[in-house]
Amino acid sequence: MKFFIKNYGCQMNLYDSSRMTDVLCMSGYELVQDICDAEIAIFNTCSIREKANEKLFSDLGRAKSRKFAAHQDGKKFLIIVTGCVAQAHAQELQRRASYVDIILGPQDIHGIADCIHNITADGNVDESTFNNNCITVQTNLNANNKFAHLPDNFFRRGVSEFLTIQEGCNNFCSYCCVPHTRGREYSRDVEDVLAEARRLTAMGVKEIVLLGQNVNSYAGQGPDAKIWNLARLLYTIAELNGLVRMRYTTSNPKDVTAELAKVHREVPILAPSVHLPAQSGSDRILARMNRRYSVDDYYRCVDVLMENRPDMVLTSDFIVGFPGETDDDFEKTMRFVEKIKFANAYSFKYSPRANTAAAKMDDQIPESVKSERLKALQRVLLEHQKQFNKNSVGKTVQVLFVKEGNHKNQSVGRSEYSQAVSVCDNSIGVGDLCNVKIVKTVSHSVIGMVV
Ligand code: SAH
Ligand code: SF4
Ligand code: F3S
Repeated sequence: MKFFIKNYGCQMNLYDSSRMTDVLCMSGYELVQDICDAEIAIFNTCSIREKANEKLFSDLGRAKSRKFAAHQDGKKFLIIVTGCVAQAHAQELQRRASYVDIILGPQDIHGIADCIHNITADGNVDESTFNNNCITVQTNLNANNKFAHLPDNFFRRGVSEFLTIQEGCNNFCSYCCVPHTRGREYSRDVEDVLAEARRLTAMGVKEIVLLGQNVNSYAGQGPDAKIWNLARLLYTIAELNGLVRMRYTTSNPKDVTAELAKVHREVPILAPSVHLPAQSGSDRILARMNRRYSVDDYYRCVDVLMENRPDMVLTSDFIVGFPGETDDDFEKTMRFVEKIKFANAYSFKYSPRANTAAAKMDDQIPESVKSERLKALQRVLLEHQKQFNKNSVGKTVQVLFVKEGNHKNQSVGRSEYSQAVSVCDNSIGVGDLCNVKIVKTVSHSVIGMVV
């Protein structure tokens, strides 16, 4: 059977989508790029903000029509919802979308082929099961170690790949649903991570991006029975043959250590760019968010990273309109971003999430104020991003080419500073690592020539 998979949300979901693809391809299913060609539609969902939820339900509405049409023709069409909405809102899904066949939380994705097989092999899927009230629901948060069950084989891999080393989160930032969708923090064993990294490099992967919701609090059991931190893991992965670049994301400012910063100085293949979400520039709001660092702590992180890699590039995330955020708090965020000048930063309007502490706070901010603040912040962040790109003109960076561009002879890659760089040069191929001089900037990326 042919399957289509749509991904919402963060890189951890992208990793899960590629692992589900591995499981399914190994069981004889075929991946298709267009839902029109599929007999199985998988929606790997995100629940971080309400918008992501709404998008899912509109996509599901369209999938329902597709399923209905298929059933009219006597054909099968399975709808599967996986990921964070599946985990946190399984009951709502069953109620609002009873035509969904399978619901799997992020810790249950390894069983996807078995679930499909159970339905299809029994001949269960016929007209009578159009509204089946979800035949299979598995949301065993914390109960499974999916990594122990995922296959060793990979279906297909590119030049740059994600590797999840840690899942879940214990931080309970007051706005965030992740501890409810991914469960408590769990670090994979060092040997398990290394084995996967070796398999990736053996397939020709040149860049590995280590993933975790709070990746710099990694604490995995080592082969020496000791607990390894992220710094130690990075030193070891750096030794792998064929690997030319490493990155890690997402870091929490409260867990940035001098030891981790030192790895940036000592390991040349560790990219000098760190995504370090600040969320706010006001200590009062950071405390209400339960972030457990202050603005000064954040500046200290920047200092220790810069001391070790003076060319370090920082990117960040911000939330505006958090409950109780005053004009003065927001001004502090504006002053904070002016001071640091992030190379790139994502910003969002606060979105209340079920079962979180902030959703119950009584000083919620009106939508119109959130929109105004977001607009003002994004204007400045974009200015800084443009300035960063402009400042890079004339500089030589190292670009790892990951794909072909839309134009003739064009290749697209990323610099060590996580900048998107495109080059028109027929001597360049995907997978090449080249020194590139940046010649000009275009919207969100830059154009260069190989030197
Ligand atoms: N683990 C990462 C964040 C993962 S979520 C960290 O601790 O930084 C990615 C981003 O989504 C967050 O950095 C935050 O800016 C945003 N976000 C999370 N919950 C949100 C909410 N309820 N409303 C708006 N933005 C939110
Ligand atoms: Fe969410 Fe905070 Fe954990 Fe990040 S650190 S995943 S924002 S609870
Ligand atoms: Fe979204 Fe889940 Fe990632 S809520 S941001 S897909 S951890």
